[in-house]
Amino acid sequence: MHIDILTIFPEMFDNLFRHSIIKRAREKELVTICLHNFRDYATNKHKSVDDYPYGGGAGMVMMAEPIISCIEALTGKRSYDDVIYLSPDGELLTQHTANLLSLKQNLILLCGHYKGVDERVRESVITREISIGDYVLSGGELAAAVLVDAIIRLIPGVLGDETSALSDSFQDNLLSPPVYTRPYEFRGKTVPDILLSGHDKEIAQWRHEQSLERTRKRRPGLLDDQ
Ligand code: ADE
Repeated sequence: MHIDILTIFPEMFDNLFRHSIIKRAREKELVTICLHNFRDYATNKHKSVDDYPYGGGAGMVMMAEPIISCIEALTGKRSYDDVIYLSPDGELLTQHTANLLSLKQNLILLCGHYKGVDERVRESVITREISIGDYVLSGGELAAAVLVDAIIRLIPGVLGDETSALSDSFQDNLLSPPVYTRPYEFRGKTVPDILLSGHDKEIAQWRHEQSLERTRKRRPGLLDDQ
C-alpha cells in the first residue's frame, strides 16, 4: 500500500511512523508513506495557504489552489483508490471502514486546519471524508495518524501473528475479553482458573462469554449493530 499525506505540518508525523507496527510495516516494504507540504504549491508571494472566508465570520479557510495542485501532481503519477479528507463532518471511522481501506493500493489523506478547506476542494477532488470521532481537533494530522495506524496493522504480513488483528475488539462488534500474563497471583488477585485448564474449546467459550458480557455492560449499542 502507498499512502500520501498532505499537510502543512509534515514534521508532526516524524516520530509517529517510526515505531512499532508502522515501523515494521515500512521496513518490510508492505507500506510506503510520503508526506507532502502543500504550502510548496502556493503561488502567492508569502506562500500562504489560507485566507479570510467570503461572507465574513471567524477563522480562516484553506485555499483551493495549493491543495488541488498538490493532489494533481500526485494523481498525474499514479491512480488512487480514494482521496480522503479528514474532517469532523466525515463518516465516523469504524473497524469495518478500516478493514475495507486496508485492501486499497493507493490513498491520499488530506489534513485540514482552521475552518476547513474551500468547498471546491471537496467538490472536485475529495472522494471520501472521514471523522475519527464527534469532537473537533485543531487539525487533521492526528486523525490521519489514527487512520493510518488502524489501516496498516490490518495489511496481511504486518502483524507477526496473522490471527491477532482478527481477534481485536470490534472485529466482530464485540469488545475484547480480559487478558492476563504472569505472575499467576498479583497483590492477592489470581488469574481465572479456566485459562490454566489447557482446554482450548472451553477457554474460547469463556472468552466469548466475557466479550459478550463486557460489550453488554460498556457498549450495548454495538450489539444492536449485529
Ligand atoms: N479534523 C478536526 N477534527 C477532526 C475529527 N474529529 N476527525 C477527523 N478530522 C478532524
